[in-house]
Amino acid sequence: MYNITKSEVVNFFSKLVEFKSISTSQRYDKDVIDCVSFLKSFFEKEFKSNLEFCKVVRHKNSKPLLLVKVKSKLRNSKTVGVYGHYDVQPEDPIDEWRTNPFKLVNKNGKFYGRGTADNKGHIVLNIFAVLDLLRSGRNKNNFVFVLEGEEESGNEEGLEKMLRSQKQLLSDIDVFFITDVGMFARNRPQIYYALRGIVCFELEIEVGKRDLHSGVYGNLVLNPAHIISDYIARLKDPFTNKIKIKGFYDDVKRFSDDELQILKKNIKSKRDLINESGLFDLVKINNIDFSLGSKIYPSLDVNGVWSGFVDQGFKTVIPVKAGVKFSCRLVEYQKPKVIEDLVLDFTERYFNKHKGVQYKIRKLASAEPFYTDYKNEFIQHTANLLEKSFKNSVVYNRSGGSIPAAEIFQRIFSKPIVLTGFTLPDDNIHSPNENFDEEMFWKGLDSLIQIYEKI
Ligand code: BES
Ligand code: ZN
Repeated sequence: MYNITKSEVVNFFSKLVEFKSISTSQRYDKDVIDCVSFLKSFFEKEFKSNLEFCKVVRHKNSKPLLLVKVKSKLRNSKTVGVYGHYDVQPEDPIDEWRTNPFKLVNKNGKFYGRGTADNKGHIVLNIFAVLDLLRSGRNKNNFVFVLEGEEESGNEEGLEKMLRSQKQLLSDIDVFFITDVGMFARNRPQIYYALRGIVCFELEIEVGKRDLHSGVYGNLVLNPAHIISDYIARLKDPFTNKIKIKGFYDDVKRFSDDELQILKKNIKSKRDLINESGLFDLVKINNIDFSLGSKIYPSLDVNGVWSGFVDQGFKTVIPVKAGVKFSCRLVEYQKPKVIEDLVLDFTERYFNKHKGVQYKIRKLASAEPFYTDYKNEFIQHTANLLEKSFKNSVVYNRSGGSIPAAEIFQRIFSKPIVLTGFTLPDDNIHSPNENFDEEMFWKGLDSLIQIYEKI
């Protein structure tokens, strides 16, 4: 860091965290728009004469996409795409936060707040890394920031449409950096070469017109809470995590021994995983090591379920409705569309047997699995500089998480993707007390400056 100050970085970070840019509900549409306007104004003010374009792209109900090109004065420079998402997850459960989720709080060596790790903190690092290079006159490259506002909502049709409509502007990008993941451990950098895909569903069932007295009607009703529990139980075995939908595993990649050997080099112990997650115990799938279970196999999880009376006290009622949200994580070579069809077919066959139940199922989000060969020059360049900065070797890894943009960039632009980041395993993304470790934050900024300067 040469020409930027820590206080201006923290000041910008604080302002960014204050926007409730939650993309999973339309309730926050105004906050999302305010957030993108704030980012746009910042670029216009700070990057002024170096800007080739700075524009907000819109598409139907999609959240705005901010595209910014920072030009170098040199010829033959490379153009680096820098991805980030300024939207965040909802803050609930609010009672479990020890600080205000929409206030940046620096305590115990961590920056706390919703989005600090996923992904506003990384946006801050990228913007200031480029700003530092510009201010000190060391910048040799062009940068195109692609900052989206609906990564967390999984509505990626919008992103793809908006990117395709701007393909001309983005056509000279040589490499995309996606810093929306974390480190293997403190001072142990990590580069991901694969992400799981995803497909999400919401199912709602109804059995009549209103809730009923459970004494008067008990035994005469298909209780939707029980029906939905039975449906959920048929999706997967909760103890082995084996998915029971026919055909679900048909396209799953068989991992080569070579790749398994590489992955096994950096596995975490059961104790570490328990400490990181706060779980009481872990489950093994197919008897493989715990830390590979979420990487090389698909999974299916209920994300939320509702029915009946859950307030304080008791109500002897038979609910009329029940619902469940669930998502499937996919590995290569599974296709979200194929899995969607399997789930819809399974659901139709299940409810056809129960004429007294009306159901509605909707697909909410989907993304293809992502894979890239990490033996490309940009990844190697990044790895070398990360190793210098953190004085530790880089872990090449697969992640169980999903970033739809990675596969979309690869498919549309056919350019290398570098997937890395600086948060720690206890960053609590999507959970209360989300945080970005302060030491890793500043070291991350220094490494990005080096990486972007020397491309
Ligand atoms: N940053 C995460 C993805 C991630 C998390 C990658 C952990 C690697 C490790 C991203 O913001 C995210 O949460 N994505 C969603 C996408 C979904 C809603 C389509 C996810 O994975 O749940
Ligand atoms: Zn996320």
